Amino acid sequence: MNILIIHGPNLNMLGKREPDIYGNTTLSDINNLIEIVANSLNVKTEYFQSNSEGEIVTKIQNSLGKIDGIVINPAAYTHTSVAIRDAILSTDIPTVEVHISNIYKREKFRQNSYVSGVSLGVISGFGTYSYILGLKAITNHIKSKK
Ligand code: DQA
Repeated sequence: MNILIIHGPNLNMLGKREPDIYGNTTLSDINNLIEIVANSLNVKTEYFQSNSEGEIVTKIQNSLGKIDGIVINPAAYTHTSVAIRDAILSTDIPTVEVHISNIYKREKFRQNSYVSGVSLGVISGFGTYSYILGLKAITNHIKSKK
């Protein structure tokens, strides 16, 4: 099983960026942690981070036929991107949306997600562990379909 982990804009700044909200863990720490859990689940993972909406759209499109599931933290594009929503819809690859912070506890503009409506589900507010929950959720979903 091949799972693609997508990190959206500014997540390359984790560790430095607003540590009171996002903690001290860096993006490579998160990917290393995901890798450990993925190995224990017998899942292959690929990691992609971009600050560009178009690159994320292209990555999703190019995953068709290669990737069984996506775990995505669309970051700020969560709240703005019809294009990422449409890319997920157009490939129909099962997708789980994750967030480090609880977006429903934050500013009003963060409480709308364009991605949630095309995702299997949303995990928000568990810090780094949101990604682990997302990986377990997508893996379980795909296994249950086989
Ligand atoms: C985020 C929440 C978004 O509102 C924000 O723009 C991010 C990170 C999170 O993981 O909590 O960049 O997706």
